[in-house]
Amino acid sequence: MFPNHRPRRLRTTPAMRRLVSETAVRPNQLVLPMFVKEGATEPVAIASMPGVVQHTRDSMRKAALEAVEAGVGGIMLFGVPTTRDAVGSGGTDPNGVLNLALRDLRAELGDETVLMSDLCLDEFTDHGHCGILDAKGNVDNDATLAVYAEMAVAQAEAGAHLLGPSGMMDGQVAVVREALDAAGYLDTGILAYSAKYASAFFGPFREAVESQLTGDRMTYQQDPANIREALRETTLDLTEGADLVMVKPALAYLDVIRAVAEIADVPVAAYQVSGEYAMIEAAAANGWLDRRRTILETLTSIHRAGADVILTYWAVEAAGWLREN
Ligand code: PBG
Repeated sequence: MFPNHRPRRLRTTPAMRRLVSETAVRPNQLVLPMFVKEGATEPVAIASMPGVVQHTRDSMRKAALEAVEAGVGGIMLFGVPTTRDAVGSGGTDPNGVLNLALRDLRAELGDETVLMSDLCLDEFTDHGHCGILDAKGNVDNDATLAVYAEMAVAQAEAGAHLLGPSGMMDGQVAVVREALDAAGYLDTGILAYSAKYASAFFGPFREAVESQLTGDRMTYQQDPANIREALRETTLDLTEGADLVMVKPALAYLDVIRAVAEIADVPVAAYQVSGEYAMIEAAAANGWLDRRRTILETLTSIHRAGADVILTYWAVEAAGWLREN
């Protein structure tokens, strides 16, 4: 009677498969990252991210409303300024594009969704690094922290519910928490980019924010070869007061997501980044991959690995599919 064990029995019918399905992503676990471009009068397409645009303040408001109606759980904002300088003044300026957009969305949506903002200098500096440079051109950790503190208060004041410090500076979570508390923003939370890798998958994002970067971020973002330091960074961020911890990118780091989920006592997020988006869109456009199935498979995998929250440029579309399923 070989074989004695027949796992296929549980795959015989759709009803049986539904019964034993272990992992389901819910729309409210998805977060939509959005770009807003200062002074834009029309949305601008991002060539390497087909379907994603740099929004005007107005088109962002409409798109955010649609995202909330589609049931996504949150929105992560990135600003694209028209002018940049050495210290990223546009990031701390209450009238900088990101802070204005936060104010718009908070006024429009109130507490209907969770508003998140990128807390980093790379979009605002003329050298494209995530921090302030010292005389030798190296990113000065502690000088950068002082600017992050100021930026945090500006973003909280503008209406962000969660701040996403993404610069990988040492001590950034502690400094942001302290600044928020001192300014009375006790309920503004921190989505810590705990394990962020120096990844080639950020390529299209550089186009999306018109990055001025010429070198790389190897002195502050993590080496893709390492997992131990991801756990160390996560532990530090938890100690410093992170409300959620995040791994980024997602698909190439499922083992890191799993390992972080095992040690974190807060929700775990993962960021399906621009290059992950571009890769699948390009293959699907060529007819080489089934677009919908591939996207849903990646989201399921990221969730199965241990992510409770997933940032993805497909959030709205995927939320629609998940509701149908
Ligand atoms: C830094 C930041 C980056 C991304 C999110 N926050 C770029 C970088 O670290 O180089 C990448 C997101 C993506 O690729 O989708 N502000």
